[in-house]
Amino acid sequence: MDINNILQQIQQLGLECSGIVAVNQRNLIGATVKETGKQIIPWSVPEDLANFKRITANNILIMGRKTFESLPEPLNGRVHIVITRSLFKYTNINDPTTPVWFINYDSLITYISIAKKYKPFGNLFVIGGTEIFNTFCSICSKWYITLVHTHNNITSDTQYSDFHYFGPPISIFREQYNRGRFSPIYTSRGKDNLQYEFWEIWKPESSLPSKIKME
Ligand SMILES: NC(=O)c1ccc[n+]([C@@H]2O[C@H](COP(=O)([O-])OP(=O)(O)OC[C@H]3O[C@@H](n4cnc5c(N)ncnc54)[C@H](OP(=O)(O)O)[C@@H]3O)[C@@H](O)[C@H]2O)c1
Repeated sequence: MDINNILQQIQQLGLECSGIVAVNQRNLIGATVKETGKQIIPWSVPEDLANFKRITANNILIMGRKTFESLPEPLNGRVHIVITRSLFKYTNINDPTTPVWFINYDSLITYISIAKKYKPFGNLFVIGGTEIFNTFCSICSKWYITLVHTHNNITSDTQYSDFHYFGPPISIFREQYNRGRFSPIYTSRGKDNLQYEFWEIWKPESSLPSKIKME
């Protein structure tokens, strides 16, 4: 299905699609813990988690299957649309406030329409990971970005492997979105007292997504 087609149908449903990501200065968004195989975000900034919770509350989330599995539990009060190629492996959770639906691309619009009935005032958020950001990047009219200033090069840390990156380099990405709000640089109260900043960036009204073909 063509991503432009998806965008048009999302707009016809009266919805807007935003992306939300926490990324470090090297474009990293995730890693695997070698010992456990668990996929994680390799830093601790509790303020970012609180911000994520506030922004996505009562909304409809689109995510990759690996991102869903990296969550400790479904995110209360949000609709989870989880994209997978292996539908047969997963069972939907039809909780009225916090449903989790495993779908493939072909049924995306069908499930977004159903989600709208669950969350009539909700909007759409693309929450990752890398594969999903790459696919949906062009249809997000707005991005909520937490830029985390990590101290060291996480990729040389021996406890992690299998690194995941945000697709477009974050600096180039920022230039393409010509309107934005940028917080000051804060210091986290979390482990390592990392510095972080919040960006909210919008696409110029005239910019249309480039033609990207999806499987
Ligand atoms: N820092 C952040 O803000 C942030 C946000 C989200 C995630 N993350 C991190 O990112 C990592 C996960 O990212 P990821 O890129 O590995 O995985 P992902 O994008 O979350 O999920 C990938 C999976 O999505 C499904 N998928 C992707 N494209 C598809 C398509 N065209 N059709 C059908 N299904 C498709 C496949 O599932 P199946 O294998 O089941 O077919 C694929 O394996 C984790 O470390 C997580 O902690 C970080």
